[in-house]
Amino acid sequence: MTPQEIELKHEVKIYGKRGITLVRGEGARVWDDTGKEYIDCVAGHGVVNIGHANPAVVKAIHEQAQQLITCPESFSNPTRATLLQKLNAITPPHLSRFFLCNSGAEAVEAAIKFARVSTGKTEILCAMRGFHGRTMGALSATFNKKYRQPFEPLVPGFIHAPFNNAGKFAEKMTDNTAAVLLEIVQGEGGVNIGRREFFEQVQQLCRDRNTLLIIDEVQTGFCRTGKMFAFEHFDLQPDMVCMAKAMAGGVPIGAVACRADPDIGVGKHGTTFGGNPLAAAAAIAAIDFMLENDLAVQAAEKGAFLAEELRNINSPKIREVRHLGLMVGIELKEKVYPCLEKLAEQGVLALPAGATVLRLLPPLVVKHDEIIKILKITTELL
Ligand SMILES: Cc1ncc(COP(=O)(O)O)c(C=O)c1O
Repeated sequence: MTPQEIELKHEVKIYGKRGITLVRGEGARVWDDTGKEYIDCVAGHGVVNIGHANPAVVKAIHEQAQQLITCPESFSNPTRATLLQKLNAITPPHLSRFFLCNSGAEAVEAAIKFARVSTGKTEILCAMRGFHGRTMGALSATFNKKYRQPFEPLVPGFIHAPFNNAGKFAEKMTDNTAAVLLEIVQGEGGVNIGRREFFEQVQQLCRDRNTLLIIDEVQTGFCRTGKMFAFEHFDLQPDMVCMAKAMAGGVPIGAVACRADPDIGVGKHGTTFGGNPLAAAAAIAAIDFMLENDLAVQAAEKGAFLAEELRNINSPKIREVRHLGLMVGIELKEKVYPCLEKLAEQGVLALPAGATVLRLLPPLVVKHDEIIKILKITTELL
């Protein structure tokens, strides 16, 4: 049996399979089991910002695995300590405490719990079309009915208001609102880019009403949008920031950055694998690579070029091209899935974002000739 046949036979059937078996990756390219090469604009769903098989991460994992792979948080560890200092260095000074975990949903889950316990309030105000993960708390914050309905009843206390409409957020905020939880660019929701005045007004609202502002940077973080974190595009000082995906070059990890005084209480939250030295070593190497290679600047420049050229495609199939850095969405006037299949046939792997948006999340190390190839194939198709 092929790997795909085995997966189809033995996995719980929750993933739509694309009919491709990937066996190797390097930089912005991946190869399937027949040797066919693709430019990878899926990038593990926005994970491999520093490229597949990044040598710095490979070396860090190898060396750490020989030392110590696991170490619960009840014991200290020098690799974890170095990662904490690194996170402190790449976030604004007011975010100086970090909770380490293993995925984006876990980071969101922790932020929700921290908000409730530190404020004594229960409601979380979120955006329509927002996506925050699929565990029960994160799912309650997620908007799309398709993900929510089969699992109801969800966690009570989650309220949704229209994205980019601060007036509606003001209307929905109550004395019991613990936090507002927002993405800067709604990735799964269609690559919808938030507006400066929306975020700055919501932040003011949070300050006036003694409510926390949590920014979900799981998809936008680690240079993807042209800044280390997307909230840095605006005058924002969030109380918590959720991060994951690209943090460790492909190794599972997540984190919540918090203000100095979240006052959660010892024993109130935790995770077995959180802060493990293997993922920490990978994250240190990944973050160093981002800084040494000015990956945020690279994402800004390459994203601007790619989006500009996509906008120049004169096609009746395209409604709009949206982007922030190398987070690119092409809104089509038709369904996106057939288009994804045709792109893959031509050697470009891309993602959907909803029914009609084609999402490109290439590794930020993607080379100029690779961008030209993406453009050529996309232009021919559209
Ligand atoms: C903004 C955002 N938050 C949270 C998540 C959930 O992350 P994970 O799939 O690692 O649980 C995602 C995943 O796509 C995301 O895009």
